[in-house]
Amino acid sequence: MSAQPICHLYYATDRQKPQIDALQNLLDKHQLSLQLSVEQTIGKVNQKIKQQLSALHDDPVLWLDDKDKLSLIADGLSVAPEWDKLQRRVVSAGRKSELLLQAAKITADSIVIDATAGFGHDSLILASTGARVIMLEQQPMMALLLLAEQRRMSAQPNWQKLMTRLHIINIDARSYFADKQSASTLDDSIVDMVYLDPMFPEDSHQDSKTGKGAKVGKHMQVLHQLAYPPTLIEEVQLLQSAEDFIAGHNEQGGRVIVKRPQYAPVFAQRQADESWQNTALRFDGYFA
Ligand SMILES: C[S@@+](CC[C@H](N)C(=O)[O-])C[C@H]1O[C@@H](n2cnc3c(N)ncnc32)[C@H](O)[C@@H]1O
Repeated sequence: MSAQPICHLYYATDRQKPQIDALQNLLDKHQLSLQLSVEQTIGKVNQKIKQQLSALHDDPVLWLDDKDKLSLIADGLSVAPEWDKLQRRVVSAGRKSELLLQAAKITADSIVIDATAGFGHDSLILASTGARVIMLEQQPMMALLLLAEQRRMSAQPNWQKLMTRLHIINIDARSYFADKQSASTLDDSIVDMVYLDPMFPEDSHQDSKTGKGAKVGKHMQVLHQLAYPPTLIEEVQLLQSAEDFIAGHNEQGGRVIVKRPQYAPVFAQRQADESWQNTALRFDGYFA
């Protein structure tokens, strides 16, 4: 068996031992290819300690705080899914307030695949409709963050229902779409939409001439330490495999929606059938 990459996990107090065991259980249950190296910090993890931890390790590290929130630390920054902070958005989400839902056109009966789950924020908006969301994430560390967040939020009564609609899988989306086993776990269900929000070069969210557009947020800044923008070949593979998958799982014709910064070129050099945009973002739709 090949050696698994080591992931450093820091925690604050001995009281957290059961939470660390729970994280190890998630790792085993979902067969995440990571080996945890667990260390207790001395004192609080303040900005200085975050800088020190980042300087000590080439890769991002995990930090379990005394409220059992799991964060990713890199470049002196810490980020976490923090789904509770999206509560107001999730509660009021609808086609008027969320451009993603205008593009997705899903209902409570839908099954959607978020093929690039990241911190899971877009998955929550999709799941707010009542839809079931299969969340694919290629990075084991990100998958662990998502699974830990799902576990943490499942303890809150007002989030429990939504949590049961999220299914997190640590896999490269292209492998998922190509694998016949993926189809069997869906029990012949109709998949209405595949959503793609791939990494975008860190410095190119803005129009190069006017400087207009969205700034890269803290979450994406840290994620850039773990995941890379796809090459053109990878873009073509991802879009094609998503389209093939949806064609095989929806006789009525489903859709693939790709999120892009407002001024970004089209994904995989393919013109979209329809686009929805605001001042920061664009959702390009490809109809099967
Ligand atoms: C820009 S982030 C997505 C952010 C997400 N929409 C959210 O709301 O938090 C892209 C994520 O997709 C993952 N990813 C990129 N290519 C992938 C692939 N082929 N299969 C699965 N995950 C992928 C990256 O590891 C990264 O976590």
